Amino acid sequence: MKNTNVSRRKFFKAALAGASIGILAIWDKVVKTKVITTTKKIWKIPFPRFKKISFVEEFVVVNNHGNPEVLSAHCTHLGCLINRVEGDKLVCPCHGSEFSTSGKVIKGPAYQPLKKVAFHFSEKKDMIVIG
Ligand code: FES
Repeated sequence: MKNTNVSRRKFFKAALAGASIGILAIWDKVVKTKVITTTKKIWKIPFPRFKKISFVEEFVVVNNHGNPEVLSAHCTHLGCLINRVEGDKLVCPCHGSEFSTSGKVIKGPAYQPLKKVAFHFSEKKDMIVIG
């Protein structure tokens, strides 16, 4: 009588190898055909000449005597938008983290500084352009 265990084992090994190759081929196509589109948003926000601190959209604009600095308003703790000033401190409304006007952490729970945002002035120098 013929031993069928060996041939079954070979069959399952071959089937497993074939299935693996098929999965890899499909995976490769899925990964290669994935289209990633990114649209970079450009922000134009008015330069607040006469205000020391302004909250505009997702940004904090700190006007250092005409030499502005732009910080992300997203708190580095859990991402809430910072929208309040107490004295010279930027205060997160969610859990009370406090930051200096240069973005340094004064009080946690956040432990990382606010991100500085690169920008340039518009031609008329009346707008801050980000992006
Ligand atoms: S999200 Fe700002 S302190 Fe938690």
